[in-house]
Amino acid sequence: MSGSEIGAELSKRAEHAEDILKTFLPKEEGYAKRVIEAMNYSLLAGGKRLRPVMMLESYKIFAGEDADESVVAPFMAAMEMIHTYSLVHDDLPAMDNDEYRRGRKTTHAVYGAGMATLAGDALLNYAFETAIKGAVTGKKLSSYDGDTDNRYFAALKVLSEKAGIYGMVGGQCADIMAENSTDVPKDEMSDILSYIDENKTAALIESSLMIGAILGGASKSAVDAMEKAGSGVGIAFQIQDDILDIVGDQEEIGKPVGSDEKNNKSTYVSLNGMEAATLKVKELSESAKEILKELGVVDSFLGDLFEYLIYRRK
Ligand code: IPE
Ligand code: IPE
Ligand code: MG
Ligand code: MG
Ligand code: MG
Repeated sequence: MSGSEIGAELSKRAEHAEDILKTFLPKEEGYAKRVIEAMNYSLLAGGKRLRPVMMLESYKIFAGEDADESVVAPFMAAMEMIHTYSLVHDDLPAMDNDEYRRGRKTTHAVYGAGMATLAGDALLNYAFETAIKGAVTGKKLSSYDGDTDNRYFAALKVLSEKAGIYGMVGGQCADIMAENSTDVPKDEMSDILSYIDENKTAALIESSLMIGAILGGASKSAVDAMEKAGSGVGIAFQIQDDILDIVGDQEEIGKPVGSDEKNNKSTYVSLNGMEAATLKVKELSESAKEILKELGVVDSFLGDLFEYLIYRRK
């Protein structure tokens, strides 16, 4: 597929993921109406929907002819809720203090910091309400040869761990700690940055690929391989995000350019320069595609997508 064909295909799949997400949105009613409005405002603001798209692709690869979208749908919605919560909190005045997200005013700019904090909390919780309900009512799956027999439990375990202190929250913690850190030696900073990118960003991408694989019937070793692929493509995704924070177009990326400089963030680009960063994105994405090949997955949309993301402008 050519770049523009992959782009068109991705838009179609993102629209499909969004249609699925819409079936799981909470109703805006009752005394908690305001926070639910803020949740839905954040969720429906747009966004590339890459994590649920990747989850579904991974699911389809392993489920093959047995694929039944209803199994993975609640987990796709849950993933987008967790990702969206991470963005709502990331933009708060106490964190990156950014006013625009997904092409419009960010949640705290419209609803206030208090309601945005609660909307983030509620999205995280509602993600688990949604995924657990899916696990309880979903059709019976084959047993899993990992550390638990039940594939839904295994998927919930990944979903919870990769979002928390051993994943996204851990990475966001190190990201804040690394602000203004001009006196840290370069090799130490390089280790810290690997931790940041692996956790704040790659963790949710790994989780998406792993959950798709688990629910699709993959073996433990195949799930481990998908984790590794997610790590490569996820770190590349964050480095490209850091590149676009400098050379991107605000209209296109839907969020402010120059946020990292404003906050004195340490990024792969600030440490190693633009040229090295661009090369790293390519190298990591290609290594992720290689892992798919080793799994025997060739000619997949997922592989095309890994490559397409190297050249993304948004
Ligand atoms: C933004 O993620 C935050 C990072 C982890 C870099 P995305 O670039 O996937 O944001 P949306 O979902 O498209 O808004
Ligand atoms: C944050 O990284 C990743 C998250 C876990 C939200 P950034 O702070 O660079 O993300 P953007 O650029 O605001 O989307
Ligand atoms: Mg941030
Ligand atoms: Mg930010
Ligand atoms: Mg950024």
